[in-house]
This record gives sequence, structure tokens and C-alpha cells, in this order.
Amino acid sequence: MTTTSAASRQGGTVLVTGGAGFIGCAISAALVEAFDRVVVVDNLHPQIHANGQRPDELAAGAELIIGDVAQAKTWDTVLAGLTPDVVIHLAAETGTAQSLNESTRHAHVNVVGTTQMLDGLSRHGKLPRRIVLSSSRAVYGEGAWTRTDGTVLYPGQRTSATLDAQQWDFTDARPLPMKAANTFPAPVSVYGGTKLAQEHIIQAWAKSFGVETVILRLQNVYGPGQSLINPYTGIMSLFCRMAMGQKSIPLYEDGEVRRDFILIDDVASAIVAGALSPTVQDQPMDIGSGEFQTIGTAAELIAKHYQAPAPHVTGQYRQGDVRHAWADVSDAQRVLGWTPRYNLAQGIDILANWIDAQPDVQPA
Ligand SMILES: NC(=O)c1ccc[n+]([C@@H]2O[C@H](COP(=O)([O-])OP(=O)(O)OC[C@H]3O[C@@H](n4cnc5c(N)ncnc54)[C@H](O)[C@@H]3O)[C@@H](O)[C@H]2O)c1
Repeated sequence: MTTTSAASRQGGTVLVTGGAGFIGCAISAALVEAFDRVVVVDNLHPQIHANGQRPDELAAGAELIIGDVAQAKTWDTVLAGLTPDVVIHLAAETGTAQSLNESTRHAHVNVVGTTQMLDGLSRHGKLPRRIVLSSSRAVYGEGAWTRTDGTVLYPGQRTSATLDAQQWDFTDARPLPMKAANTFPAPVSVYGGTKLAQEHIIQAWAKSFGVETVILRLQNVYGPGQSLINPYTGIMSLFCRMAMGQKSIPLYEDGEVRRDFILIDDVASAIVAGALSPTVQDQPMDIGSGEFQTIGTAAELIAKHYQAPAPHVTGQYRQGDVRHAWADVSDAQRVLGWTPRYNLAQGIDILANWIDAQPDVQPA
């Protein structure tokens, strides 16, 4: 995975929770280059790791400790043998729709997993210099919109009644890009609520102990290495597998839902920059391509790649999904010296070529 441009030799120890997952594997090679020691703590969750084995994509130089971040004893084991200079906290339950019906599991891993980590660090007197958190655009919910007269509104959560009536958009308003400095968080999923809680808990704790924080609110990440089996995440890999089977991709709502799709390479370079940057800021930073595309456009590009039938609109919807989301990435560019490099067409080719090369991939 391409992350070395942002990496520079730093030395010391980096501890990565959830580091055997999609993003963790993508940053692992650059971290091995930048730090003396890279330690990953991950429970190899069966929804992501079907065979329960260390993933091949995790850089050979990274040590893997199998453990649950939500258990105090994991932290006693992990911290007995190391003092982290930087912690990158990725471990999480990530299913937006799933989180509605499994809210306790999401809260347990995402919230209690974070507090157990912080308690472990203070219990062992092993305060890192910096904690980097992979937060999510889910903290914004529907975000801020603007009326025709230029005033800003927060439209709140779409109800089942409006969605059943196929009233997808908020009337007489248009969405604004998400930027932590000027968009209030207002999650519309349990997952989003737990990611916002992670941010607040880490910031409060870190301020008290003089630890730096880098909070990165990621938009929709896709690319090589993403799960081909997790049914709850990864719309782009699902679309690829549908098109591979010559199916017409079904589009929810009217196909005009906007997302900011960011290739994993660009996310990896942002997180590595977050770990290494000489400058940080307390305010969360937004990480995306900085542009929106409709889901329909993404599906058409994928269908074209596989010469599959054109996508079709179904009018279905999914609870917890927001209508539009994209990021203003100027803070991350300014503070971390990071910039996204791939557009959607390039990224889809990279993803599809990777999927096509996977030995066991099944059309969906
Ligand atoms: N991928 C995206 O589109 C995206 C977008 C926004 C934010 N994020 C955030 O980025 C982080 C990483 O996401 P990802 O896409 O790599 O997800 P992933 O599911 O591929 O990786 C998460 C890893 O955490 C591990 N894990 C889960 N529960 C654990 C526990 N209790 N103890 C220890 N390890 C545990 C899993 O085994 C997995 O390896 C998450 O915090 C997620 O909220 C991801």
C-alpha cells in the first residue's frame, strides 16, 4: 500500500488497535518504516477475519497481539511489554445499519473499548505522546444545509414516514460540505453516536494528561484490502462483485445519494501523517477526496468496468443512511501537509483490478 510519501523515520513504538483490519493493514508497511517497533492489538473479529488468521496484508515487521480492546486484561498484557509513543486507535464495530439492532455491541467495543484502553494507559503509567483516532463522517449525521436565502439549517434525521413517501431530500435547501470547524455533529446512527463519544472521551482524557490528539473524521473508504465477506460494510466491493456476476447494481433511494469516496491509499497517508506530523490541532480534521459523487455515478463506473448491465433505481432505503456527505479537507491539508491523490475513476480501476486478482472472490 502506498503510504511512504507521508512517512519519515521517527523511531519509538507505535501501538495500533484494530491494526489487522482494512485500514490497519494499509498503514502497516509505512509504520514499520517510520517506527522502531509496531505493535498491533486486534481480536481478529470473525465478521472481518473469516479464517481467524493473521492477514497476509499486515506488514511482516508488525507484531500482532490477539486481544479484545474492551477487556482490561488485554491492556495489562499489552502494556506489560511496551511503552507506546504513539497510539493509533482503529479498533471498532463499524456497521452503521447493524448498529441499530446491535447497539450494545457497538457501544461496548467503541466506547468501553476506548475507555479500557485509556484506563490501561494510565493504570500502567504509560502515557503516549499522541493518540490518533480514526473517527467518522457518521458523527455529522445529515450535516449542515443552506436555504436559498443563504441561512444555514440542520435538517436533523429523516423519518421513516418521509422515506416511505420517497421524499429523499430536504426541501428548498442544499447540502454543505462537512468540516469540523463549522459543522455541528449530530449523528443519526448508533455507530455515529459511538464514534462521537470516542472523540469526546479521548479529547477529555488526553487534555488532562497532556497527550496530543489527532482526530480524523473519515469519509467512505474503499480500495484494495477491503472486506469481500463483511455484508455490513463496503458498498464498492459489493457493487464490484454484483457487476462481476453481470447483475444490474440496485441503487437505493433515487440513485442520487452523494458520497465522498476516498481510496485507501489516501486514507493511509492521512493516518500516517497524523501519527508523524510535527503539527497537530485539537479540532478534528476531515479526510475525504474533497469531492462528492452520486452512488449512481460510482455504480455506473463499476458496471462499465465489468461490461455489466446498467444500474437500476429501486427506491429502497436503509435506516441510518444520510442523504449526502462530503468533506472539506482543507484543515488536514494545512495542518498535516496531506493531500488526497486519487479520483473516483482511478480508484475504481484500482479496486476492481485487485478484486479480479483475488483467488476466491465470488460474484454477489
Ligand atoms: N472503512 C471506512 O469506510 C471507515 C470510515 C470511517 C471511519 N472508519 C473507522 O476506521 C477504523 C478502522 O476501520 P476499518 O475499515 O479498517 O475496519 P475493519 O473492520 O476492517 O477493521 C477493524 C479491526 O478492528 C478489529 N476489532 C474489532 N473489534 C475489536 C475488539 N473488540 N478488540 C480488538 N480488535 C477489534 C477487527 O478485527 C478489525 O481487524 C474504525 O474505527 C472505523 O470506525 C472507517
